[in-house]
Amino acid sequence: MKLAIGCDHGGYELKNEIIAHLQEQGHRITDVGCDSPASCDYPIYAKKVTDLIRSGEAELGILICGTGIGMSMAANKEPGIRAALCHDVFSTKATREHNDANVLCMGARVVGPGLALMIVDTFLGTPFSEDERHKRRISYYS
Ligand code: RB5
Repeated sequence: MKLAIGCDHGGYELKNEIIAHLQEQGHRITDVGCDSPASCDYPIYAKKVTDLIRSGEAELGILICGTGIGMSMAANKEPGIRAALCHDVFSTKATREHNDANVLCMGARVVGPGLALMIVDTFLGTPFSEDERHKRRISYYS
């Protein structure tokens, strides 16, 4: 799968763990940064990931900051982006099935790496349901 991933300083370490995990699975990953734990502005990286999705260069995106909240707010400002802030497996599965979420946001200060990798695997492994009622509901805001 073609994936885009980005973070701010709060998500830098977790992003590296996720990239290593996804590379083992053979995914093609574009890492838009940041590239160090130095303080930086999360909207810059949210925009880089959403641009790759909107252009079709990536199928799905992952954004990580301290809470995941800023990343999800910034990503959801971009047309065609359905970013979901998920810290549990149930919501992650549901947002792919019901909302056809195309960006997963997580907070590295909220979840540990074990749960984060499980959430990532659930996000990438769950297809959209294609149900008409979900398509209709998504069309209100997409
Ligand atoms: C950075 O300190 C922090 O504000 C950021 O990582 C994120 O949690 C914002 O929503």
